[in-house]
Amino acid sequence: MKKITIIGAGRVGETSAQILAEQELCGEVVLIDIREDAPQGVALDIYQTAPFFDFDTIVTGSNDPAAMQDSELVVITAGVARKPGMSRSDVLHTNITILDAILDDVMRYAPQCMLLLVSNPVDILTYHAWKRTGWDRSRILGQAGVLDSSRMAAFIAMETGFSAQDITTIVLGGHGDTMVPLPRFCTINGIPVSHFIDDESMQLIIDRTRSGGAEILALRKNSSAYDAPGASVAIMVDAICHNRRRILPTVAILDGEYGEVDLAMGVPCVLSRSGIEKIIEMPLNESEQQLFSDSSAAVRADIERL
Ligand code: 2OP
Repeated sequence: MKKITIIGAGRVGETSAQILAEQELCGEVVLIDIREDAPQGVALDIYQTAPFFDFDTIVTGSNDPAAMQDSELVVITAGVARKPGMSRSDVLHTNITILDAILDDVMRYAPQCMLLLVSNPVDILTYHAWKRTGWDRSRILGQAGVLDSSRMAAFIAMETGFSAQDITTIVLGGHGDTMVPLPRFCTINGIPVSHFIDDESMQLIIDRTRSGGAEILALRKNSSAYDAPGASVAIMVDAICHNRRRILPTVAILDGEYGEVDLAMGVPCVLSRSGIEKIIEMPLNESEQQLFSDSSAAVRADIERL
């Protein structure tokens, strides 16, 4: 890609920009933020790592939405973050208002782009972006499951002592307390994880995964997570830019898949240069399908609050 814009030069936006630049996933990364001078400062700071990491990606910052002109991908990280004790849904109305203004700019300056939503509550914002733009669902996607799955993999690595690199996990559903980690599909280099972890310990890992964001917020106190979220954005952008056709859990608009319509939820998607190329329907058993339905009911309830 020639140009990727990241809207919101907060910690997640900055971390994402650093990785996109380092990995030369595009020719230019533009950071846009309404805070005066902030995106320019962040961009300069990142660009000054170019001699260390040997990249030629141009990194710029601007307060002017016109700077996103003709971007092929726009990543939205702007919005208020939750404070300790708040749920992701608690920031819904503020972030919808912020998103509306951003979407108007995106439709004006980058009408052909693909949109990657990161701000919370991500399922609701992804749905809202699809409704407001009227764009094809293949080019509106949200980041959640890649992060939740990486948290689950990290906890499995910590529990077993095996390399995190060998651990494959998948978490579907809404990016909230009702998310659906799927231990039956988790493996350590192809070996079912149940070979190494008993049910009781796995339940603790599932619970910890579900509250993975809140755990970090409680520890950091004045900031949500941003290292793993930024890396998760980069993994998705890499799959798209390199047309890898990776199967990654992605917030997608559902149109009959998993028995749901008119809803955005985390499901396994084939990500390629055309965005969400396909949604994969996993063979869920009855209890997994029930958890997925409970999660969709929770996301739907939030959408109805819009
Ligand atoms: C997280 O899970 C903030 O949603 C983000 O850390």
